[in-house]
Amino acid sequence: MGTQTSDGPVLVLGGRSEIGLEVARRLAPGRVVILAARRAGILDSEIEQVRAAGASAVHAVEFDADDTATHAPLLEKLAAEHGGIGTAVLAFGVLGDQDRAESDPAHAVAVVHTDYVAQVSVLTTLATLLRAQGFGQIVVFGSIAGVRVRRANYVYGSAKAGLHGFAAGLGDALHGTGVQLLLVRPGFVIGRMTTGMDPAPMSSTPGQVADAVVRALGKGATRVAVPGRLNVAFFVMGLIPQFMWRRMPR
Ligand SMILES: NC(=O)c1ccc[n+]([C@@H]2O[C@H](COP(=O)([O-])OP(=O)(O)OC[C@H]3O[C@@H](n4cnc5c(N)ncnc54)[C@H](OP(=O)(O)O)[C@@H]3O)[C@@H](O)[C@H]2O)c1
Repeated sequence: MGTQTSDGPVLVLGGRSEIGLEVARRLAPGRVVILAARRAGILDSEIEQVRAAGASAVHAVEFDADDTATHAPLLEKLAAEHGGIGTAVLAFGVLGDQDRAESDPAHAVAVVHTDYVAQVSVLTTLATLLRAQGFGQIVVFGSIAGVRVRRANYVYGSAKAGLHGFAAGLGDALHGTGVQLLLVRPGFVIGRMTTGMDPAPMSSTPGQVADAVVRALGKGATRVAVPGRLNVAFFVMGLIPQFMWRRMPR
């Protein structure tokens, strides 16, 4: 079972994601990597990076996370074509515009659709496929923003909070099936998604997040905070009274 898992294709959903690509590069040596993204025809530099990292083959496929009706046909087709899915990395996500989302319900719903509803759809489809094959790994990205939701980014944060709950329950449902679900909870990651923002304390880089993901996958872990000392911060965050918490910056 373990050998099949480590040999099977790596599927990155959100194939242009900085964190997703760093994970893909680390898992690439000797493996098939599939980058699933919008505008899959313009992934040349991403494909080249993963190939240079040692992938045996790299494929690009069209994937729009928001179009949930396409998830099952796409994932079933990929699993059939490649003899299963070894490691699926859900790397798609949007930060959204909090100010706009506070008064524009369509934007608030769009953020939650990508960051929660679409994740639920992909996770449910993958869980069914991987359970049936009896092996595989799923990596899902939560965030410190969802550990205790802050006034400053409550739309994105609420989607991540929902995702934490869903991933925890699904992970327990998969316990003993041979399928590992890893919930990653990074703090502030210095990269494209946070361009122009001042780094928060205990921030990390996409490469550091990917190192932690690969280590946690290797250990069979179901949770990892990045950096690890954030686990203490997560605990302390729960103790702060609401009148103080509501003034927390994003
Ligand atoms: N960066 C952080 O500070 C941070 C912190 C904690 C957690 N996370 C989480 O980590 C994950 C990866 O983030 P990242 O830092 O790698 O961000 P990123 O570089 O901005 O990548 C996010 C990717 O999601 C893709 N995407 C968005 N909507 C999509 C859709 N409807 N269909 C398909 N792809 C879509 C984007 O694709 P396009 O190229 O097509 O736009 C983009 O490549 C996300 O879940 C994020 O919430 C990030």
